[in-house]
Amino acid sequence: MHTARINLPSINPNSPLPLLLQAVPSMMSQRERRMLLSLAEFEYRGKGVIVDAGVFCGGSTLCFGTGIALNARRNAIMKRWKRPVRTYEFGIINPSMVRFFERNGIEGDWKAGESFTDFLRSNIAPVSDKVELTTGDICNAKWGGEPIEIMFLDVLKSEQIQLAVLREFMPSLIEGGFLVHQDYFYDGLPFVKIVQEHFADHFEFLGEVQSSALFRLVRPISAEQTHEDPLATLSLARQLELLDQARDRSVDPARHLMCDFGKVRFLVESGEIDLARAEMAEAEARHADLLGSDSWPRLHASQRVTANRIRLAERNAMAVA
Ligand SMILES: C[S@@+](CC[C@H](N)C(=O)[O-])C[C@H]1O[C@@H](n2cnc3c(N)ncnc32)[C@H](O)[C@@H]1O
Repeated sequence: MHTARINLPSINPNSPLPLLLQAVPSMMSQRERRMLLSLAEFEYRGKGVIVDAGVFCGGSTLCFGTGIALNARRNAIMKRWKRPVRTYEFGIINPSMVRFFERNGIEGDWKAGESFTDFLRSNIAPVSDKVELTTGDICNAKWGGEPIEIMFLDVLKSEQIQLAVLREFMPSLIEGGFLVHQDYFYDGLPFVKIVQEHFADHFEFLGEVQSSALFRLVRPISAEQTHEDPLATLSLARQLELLDQARDRSVDPARHLMCDFGKVRFLVESGEIDLARAEMAEAEARHADLLGSDSWPRLHASQRVTANRIRLAERNAMAVA
C-alpha cells in the first residue's frame, strides 16, 4: 500500500522530505507531505489562499509554509495575501492522540481533553509569518469568500463536519484549484467518498499518494449546489455506486480491498446486514491472494474489524427479533 502516482510533472512524492519537515510528528507519510510541499512550491500561483484543515501537530502547515518560501512567486504571493495559509485545528487532545504521542516518544504530560495548541504553534513557528491559525470547531468557521486555490482536508471526521466544510468553503475553491483528501483510499469515512464522487463532474482526478487523493477543480461548485445534503437525498444504491467509483480511482489492489471493507462497514451501518455479508464474501474471494499473504497486516486487521462489525450487527438483530 505504498502507491504514489500523481499526474503532475512538478510533483514527485518519492523525492525526500527535507529534514526540517520530518522533525514535526505527523500521522501522514513523508510522501504525502512531500506532495503538499511540492503543491505549494511549484503549483501554487497565489490566485487564492491555501486552506489547511485538520493539522494535528502542524505537519501539513509546515509543508505549505515552506513550499511558499521556496515558490518562485513568493514575493507576489506575500504581497497579495498577508497570511496565505489558513490553518484550522480543533486543538484538543483525544485518546488516540495520547497513544500517538506515546508511540512517537513525544515528551509531555498529554491528557485527553486538554489543549495541544502551544505544541502546534511551536511546530509551525518557522512559517508563522505565512499562517493564520484558527483553533476550535471548524463547523463554526465563517469563510469570508476569499478565493481558495489549494484545500487540504484531513478534518472531515463526521458527516456534520463534511457538510459544514462543503457549504462554507467549497464554493470558494477556484477553477484550476487543488483539493487533497487525506484518508480517501481506506476503510473509514464513507461519507467523504460519497460526497466527493457526487461532485465528480466538477473535478479531474490527478492521482493518489497512499491513502490521499488529489483532485483539480475544473468547474466551480456554486453555493446553491451545496444546499442539498447528498447523504440525505441519494438512494442507498447510488451511494454504493459512488463508493465503488472512489475505489476504482486507485490502481492499488490493496487499497481496493480496504475500500471494499469500508463499503461493507457502510452497509452494516445502513442496516443492510445480508448485503454486507454478501459483499464481504465477494471482496474476500476477489482478493484471496492478498489475504493469503503475510505481508499485509493492515489488511488483515481491517478484515477482522469488518467481520466483527457484521457479527455484532447479526447478534443485535437476533436480540431484537
Ligand atoms: C487525523 S488528524 C490530522 C492528522 C494531521 N493531518 C497530521 O499530519 O498528523 C485529524 C485532525 O482533525 C482535527 N479535527 C477533528 N474535528 C475537528 C473539527 N470539528 N474542527 C477542527 N479540527 C478538527 C483533530 O483535532 C485532528 O488533529
